[in-house]
Amino acid sequence: AQENREQWGSRTGFLLAAIGSAVGLGNIWRFPAEAYKNGGGAFLLPYLIALLTAGLPLLILEYTVGRKYRQSPPAAFRQLTRPAEAIGWWQVAICFVIATYYATIVAWAVRYTGFSFGKDWGKDPEAFFGGEFLHAAAKPGGPSEFVGGVFWPLLLVWAVVLVILALGVRRGIERANKIFMPMLLVFFVALVIRALTLDGASKGLDALFSPDWDALTDGSVWIAAYGQIFFSLSIGFGIMVTYASYLGRRADLSNSALVAGFANSSFEILAGIGVFATLGFMAQAQGVAVDKVVASGVGLAFIAFPAIISEMPGGPFFGVLFFLSLAIAGLTSLISIVQVIVSSVQDRTGMRRLPAVLTVGGVTAVASLAVFPTDAGLHILDACDHFINQYGIVLAALAFLIVVGWVLRKLSFFQAHADETSALRLGLWWRVCLAVITPLVLGWMMVDSLRTELDENYGGMPTSFLAWAGWGVAGGALLVGILISLIPWRGAPATDQDTPA
Ligand code: PHE
Ligand code: NA
Repeated sequence: AQENREQWGSRTGFLLAAIGSAVGLGNIWRFPAEAYKNGGGAFLLPYLIALLTAGLPLLILEYTVGRKYRQSPPAAFRQLTRPAEAIGWWQVAICFVIATYYATIVAWAVRYTGFSFGKDWGKDPEAFFGGEFLHAAAKPGGPSEFVGGVFWPLLLVWAVVLVILALGVRRGIERANKIFMPMLLVFFVALVIRALTLDGASKGLDALFSPDWDALTDGSVWIAAYGQIFFSLSIGFGIMVTYASYLGRRADLSNSALVAGFANSSFEILAGIGVFATLGFMAQAQGVAVDKVVASGVGLAFIAFPAIISEMPGGPFFGVLFFLSLAIAGLTSLISIVQVIVSSVQDRTGMRRLPAVLTVGGVTAVASLAVFPTDAGLHILDACDHFINQYGIVLAALAFLIVVGWVLRKLSFFQAHADETSALRLGLWWRVCLAVITPLVLGWMMVDSLRTELDENYGGMPTSFLAWAGWGVAGGALLVGILISLIPWRGAPATDQDTPA
């Protein structure tokens, strides 16, 4: 059956899709602030080390597992050992949670692209975002009001994603990335060039890149570097296993991982330059230091940037470039994440692509549309994002590495498989990175964030709220993963093809 599996049309197609998945909101709104907070220019050192000792090795492993078994995570891990199927479904559950809220952010970006033309958010972008746009409740809690202004763009986002997935790996995912990724590059480069010509740009760049070498003695800086790499490369939740499962038997692995990894990092540095040049302009205009205007995440994209855009000559144009870039970067990542869910169900039930997209993708879309376009959406999103990252992705990756590296001792086996077709040979260092360095760092990250968690409630949110929107969601993903893996599946593996046999 795996013989009939869909395949990428070309190596470039696969690479573009893999880069499309990796390049996301994390590059644009997470990296710049992380680098700034953690040593500025000096951050690049731990960042590079994290890339080389954990990011690339794990990326290569995921590509190898995907291509070896040519199945999405649950079915692939099951072939390693029956109980490991639970780790696969755990990742699928994590993808489900992330997809529901990630789509929401893409929808905001879509809406803000429209707002860029003369919307009056200028006077108080914060009040506009939380109030007029999101109708966000003052306190975390359950939903009590539906917000149409978010619902409709979100519905559009889901329609686009499901249509692309329904078209299949080659005609849908690959083609979408071949269109979107060059577009993203053009928009983003234009944006960065415009940002660099703004008054005060160099002040921003100084703030970002001036190195604070003392930061390197601080453990939390290293944790931040590894955290950024894991998040940014989309490793640890089955996406790369899934995408690599559509590779041909002879496809290069290690080299592709290198290309995808460095492309992602280049985009991150580029985003750092663009974002900080823009923040420098803002600081200059307000006559304050850059650290007064630094923001990240939702606050950067939907509050700080709108404020800047409304002060800038040619603001609407800049706004469109920025929010379109955000929307496209997010959309290509969202596609990859939903494909994990769809593909996993297909591989275990034998369901064909279209019914799988409609049912599985449909359920994900409905969940997303029911929870997030509400007055509670912002707080739930915030909590889900934090907990699923800290106690979902990180733990699942750790469990996977322990099983592969220590319980089954399969790293040499996968090394041989990767080397068979790769231009670049793996060595002992690869196994050391995966069996020792990465698990140690992941474990340390885990302990560190748990300590912070017990110290004070995340975001100052009430315990009763975090109990379900944070711990409940992250723990639920694990529980659901285990339960689904216990179902005695029937049905033949899927036989979808892009071209009839
Ligand atoms: N790698 C993405 C980024 O850097 C994050 C991501 C990808 C999250 C895919 C979810 C799904 O933004
Ligand atoms: Na990324």
